[in-house]
Amino acid sequence: MSAVEKKDLLYKGKAKSVYTTDDPDHLILVFRDDTSAFDGKRVEQLSRKGAVNNQFNAFIMERLSEAGIPTHFTKLLGPNESVVKKMSMMPIECVVRNRAAGSLVRRLGLEEGMVLSPPTFELFYKDDALGDPMVNESLAQTFGWATADQIARAKELTFEVNDILKDLFDQGDLVLVDFKLEFGLFNGEVMLGDEFSPDGCRLWDKETLKKLDKDRFRQGLGDVIEGYEEVARRIKVPLDLV
Ligand code: TMP
Ligand code: ASP
Repeated sequence: MSAVEKKDLLYKGKAKSVYTTDDPDHLILVFRDDTSAFDGKRVEQLSRKGAVNNQFNAFIMERLSEAGIPTHFTKLLGPNESVVKKMSMMPIECVVRNRAAGSLVRRLGLEEGMVLSPPTFELFYKDDALGDPMVNESLAQTFGWATADQIARAKELTFEVNDILKDLFDQGDLVLVDFKLEFGLFNGEVMLGDEFSPDGCRLWDKETLKKLDKDRFRQGLGDVIEGYEEVARRIKVPLDLV
């Protein structure tokens, strides 16, 4: 593709801004330093976060693409910016868990860290005002968020991503505890969109179970971006633009 030029702000999310370009099929994502938790109720600026997540995401999307997962990622544009395909996004989040943590622990009264076999799959409706409520395939169909086929495909891809990334993080002595993916449609095909970064997953050191993801921010543990950078270093993400 030729050089893309940033045009108008299309949408400002909690951590990324989306711009149109001179090409109707592509958008530019700008990863900001804003770090939010609890459905946007807590927001702070963490230095380097935008650049770390942009390059982390580029690395992961490229690995997934090589492994046969269709993604919207097109190319890195700069320290905080990437070009992606312009998709029509489904307003749902697909969550897979290999170990119990977060909302599952609260909901079912489990012990954090319990191994989940087989891994679980959950759907959440993307709506901050409602606190991203858990939904299911029936609700998604009735309210027109996605068709049964699209959800089945998104679920299949989410489990494939889990297999690929569990291995990748394991090579860095990290446990992929859980993660959230968002999908969209490009020319009728379900593709992975949004981002994969330590903002939207849980990663623990294999030996000590030390948290190296956004739980450091949610739980006030400090060294949030240092945790992200440690993960990047262990799985050999080049952070040369940060
Ligand atoms: P949860 O334990 O809060 O349900 O989250 C499960 C995983 O999905 C965790 O890695 C965080 C991620 N996630 C998001 O990044 N954004 C969201 O809105 C939700 C619901 C989960
Ligand atoms: N990413 C979601 C939010 O900002 C969930 C979380 O991080 O707590 O609300």
